[in-house]
Amino acid sequence: MRKKIVAGNWKMNLNFEDGQKLTSEIVNMLKDENDKDVTVVLNPPFVHLYPVKKLIGNTPNLFLGAQNCSDKGSGAFTGEVSASMLASFGADYVILGHSERREYFGESNELLTTKTRQALENGLTPIFCCGEPLEIREAGTHEAYVKNQLTESLFGFSDEEISKIVIAYEPIWAIGTGKTASSDQAQDMHAALRAHFASKYGQIIADNLSILYGGSCNPGNAKDIFSKADVDGGLIGGASLKSRDFVDIIKSF
Ligand code: G3P
Repeated sequence: MRKKIVAGNWKMNLNFEDGQKLTSEIVNMLKDENDKDVTVVLNPPFVHLYPVKKLIGNTPNLFLGAQNCSDKGSGAFTGEVSASMLASFGADYVILGHSERREYFGESNELLTTKTRQALENGLTPIFCCGEPLEIREAGTHEAYVKNQLTESLFGFSDEEISKIVIAYEPIWAIGTGKTASSDQAQDMHAALRAHFASKYGQIIADNLSILYGGSCNPGNAKDIFSKADVDGGLIGGASLKSRDFVDIIKSF
């Protein structure tokens, strides 16, 4: 049975005090309200990671994730943070290939292969992002576009390795825009991506992959989106910065 996962991507938001406040609120809410065993991941900026980890403590089904990691293992790479460093203080997940990193920092499918390998080699679970820009959606070539992202970045990994990866489909035109993909649009793409993995790795592995939806997901639309057969949860941006909204999304299964 594949995992239901809701991950909160804080992006570059919250000072230390506000990050601690948000985390404390979420921890306290989840202790009483996560009754469906949803795997919850908090993905704060690097500077919050260790203090958030301390607040998470041993809260059931609540984990720490980063928003990126270096493609390098260690050394003279000023400003970089390695997967091994993240793992050393208890991060479990790492978001890779977010469209904002592809766009603003030029991350290629090839670079993301190396980052994914760094994460896997250090025991981190990659939350690997993919998704099409509006012009591709409007051209009707969105499935081929997203499948190619995954083929180029991930299809060199073994059965065992690919089984450790979480996929997040985030249509770029839905990120931060308030224009959410319909649940049918999400289901259509998730089913196509699962079939794509099945074509390479077989149906058993494909059926056990968690495929999350991201893009203006909120308490008002999460229930409908999460009800779809191939949607296994969400990667949440703006709504993850509000504890009540984020926990209500978690309760939407
Ligand atoms: O990684 C999740 C993010 O890209 C979605 O952002 O604000 O549309 O939920 P948002």
